Amino acid sequence: MPHTLERFSIPAMHSRREFLKGVSLTLVAACSANPSGCWTADAADAPPIPGKEGMIVRSFRFLDLEMPPEYADSFITPIPHFFVRNHMHEPATLDASTWRLTVSGEVKKPLVFSLAELEKLESHAVVNALECAGNGRGLVDPHVSGIQWQKGAVGNARFRGVRLADVLERVGVKSTGKHVMFRGLDEVPGKVPPFIRSIPLEKALHPDTLVATHINGVRLPKHHGFPARALVPGWVGAASCKWLAEIKILNQPFDGNFMYPGYRLPNEPMKSGAAITLENSHTLTDLNVKSLIAAPGDGAKLRSRAIRVRGVAWAGESEVARVDVSTDSGATWQAAELVKEHAKYAWRLWSFAFKAVKPGGCTIMSRASDSQGRVQPASVSWNPGGYLNNAIDRVNIYVEA
Ligand code: MTE
Repeated sequence: MPHTLERFSIPAMHSRREFLKGVSLTLVAACSANPSGCWTADAADAPPIPGKEGMIVRSFRFLDLEMPPEYADSFITPIPHFFVRNHMHEPATLDASTWRLTVSGEVKKPLVFSLAELEKLESHAVVNALECAGNGRGLVDPHVSGIQWQKGAVGNARFRGVRLADVLERVGVKSTGKHVMFRGLDEVPGKVPPFIRSIPLEKALHPDTLVATHINGVRLPKHHGFPARALVPGWVGAASCKWLAEIKILNQPFDGNFMYPGYRLPNEPMKSGAAITLENSHTLTDLNVKSLIAAPGDGAKLRSRAIRVRGVAWAGESEVARVDVSTDSGATWQAAELVKEHAKYAWRLWSFAFKAVKPGGCTIMSRASDSQGRVQPASVSWNPGGYLNNAIDRVNIYVEA
């Protein structure tokens, strides 16, 4: 096949050197305060990340950026506010003209696609709420180790690309092919195991599962997987491999670190401190039903007693059916209004207006339910990874006299 590739203009900050150059000035100052180079503090203490101003830096060594809850105020999350989750270094250089996607394994005809060849396949778009499985880990009690995400390792974006099913059709999956493995171009430091995971063939063949090249109408920026990433809608973010370079069809699930012990949930509730084994656990797939209060912010002091609560809710492969709000610490609940705009896999905006009965402190809670009848619980049972924490959201506000 001819390689008639145009050179795409690659968004700024495409090499780690450039990226670090961009933050170096502030970094010099910040490093003296935090020599480990790994931030877990507020955005206020961390160096600004170009194009991602205002985000909470959860880790700087491998960039992990969290969206402050107040940014969850639009159907589509603008790229500057979209969270970033990296298990290792982003690729130092990425060039659209030399990038190739290898597809092999249990197939009749292994193929290598250039970006231009890939993009000859029919284009398809999916609006998807992408959430990190570890979102809410920092709120888990007892504490579990890992990136201490609070509420904002989630965002809702319009992804566009080609159907993974169309790619797989070109290579012809053999009857022995059962799982689809993704490998990205991450730079793996030292002994860190590479970020390689697989999904079952059935999900890979779903017409909404993509090899995505665009987000919100532009080419994927580097932080989000330029030039192509898997997009496995409704599933934990870990399924959506960035900087995709290799797809391999396997006869069983990939068995690397990020499949076991990583990204697994216990089959039965477990005591805190217990360990995951292959037998007592399963791989994380689709997301839970969950809601997030965007406004008022936690700790807000309000002058008016007339208060509008706003937020978002999502439910993985299911539809959000309703969101209920409590303004009396969970004693009573009332239905919030769901905003019209919605799409399968997307988050849904909601709002709720109430008048505070008296000045003083008030706890507002939000609880989403979905089309499968799942309801957000008051608390979730503990698991060693702190995964899928979808406990009812809450904020404490103060209404001034
Ligand atoms: N893909 C690669 N190659 N390397 C990674 O570290 N992180 C995964 C996934 N894809 C990751 C990856 C995880 S855990 C999440 S939650 C999503 O990417 C986050 O996507 P984002 O950074 O575009 O928000």
